Amino acid sequence: MKTRVAVLISGRGSNMAALIEAARDPEFPGEIALVISNRADAAGLDLARRAGVEAIGVPSRDFGQNREAHERAVDALLLQHRVELVCLAGYMRLLSPWFVDRWGGRLLNIHPSLLPAYKGLDTHARVLAAGEREHGCTVHLVTTAMDEGPILAQARVTVLPGDNEAALAARVLAQEHRLYPAALAQYIRDKALPDGQPPR
Ligand code: GAR
Repeated sequence: MKTRVAVLISGRGSNMAALIEAARDPEFPGEIALVISNRADAAGLDLARRAGVEAIGVPSRDFGQNREAHERAVDALLLQHRVELVCLAGYMRLLSPWFVDRWGGRLLNIHPSLLPAYKGLDTHARVLAAGEREHGCTVHLVTTAMDEGPILAQARVTVLPGDNEAALAARVLAQEHRLYPAALAQYIRDKALPDGQPPR
């Protein structure tokens, strides 16, 4: 039985699309059962639907300041769809300790830097400004601290002379699209998921 995976997005959804594409392979150990966006206008929602994956907007703005109420709505959908593992893919919203604890060991993220370097936003611009020669991306387990948690996989990208933000971002993104499906498959195959079912 394939592990049922949900992808949480906020925008473009190119990593989500890479996961959907990889999961079409009969040998891939997971299936993308659901896509959720915290923004109703996320381009990735349509992309998912066109790929035949159920995609639901749960706009965080409808919940105002109440972060946990939004997360409870997301959590209810995950449980309804019998999701066993959640991949954050450009999900630009901090998750509360409640949600992270609940999905602990079942929550992966991709970040566009070689963590622990360059947590947070604008990683490509900061890497260029610092004159780094190497950059990349990281897939890691999510813990309550932002962009921390055990590292599952990294891909390295050389910063080239004359690079600008767009060119560097594009080369890192190409690596993200390769790294995330591979890391997800490995995580499932290693049976690293906690025993039993996700929280009910
Ligand atoms: C990706 O580069 C992802 O690594 C990054 O947002 C982009 C989303 O693009 N995530 C973060 O910065 C999280 N801290 P996508 O919507 O096309 O996958």
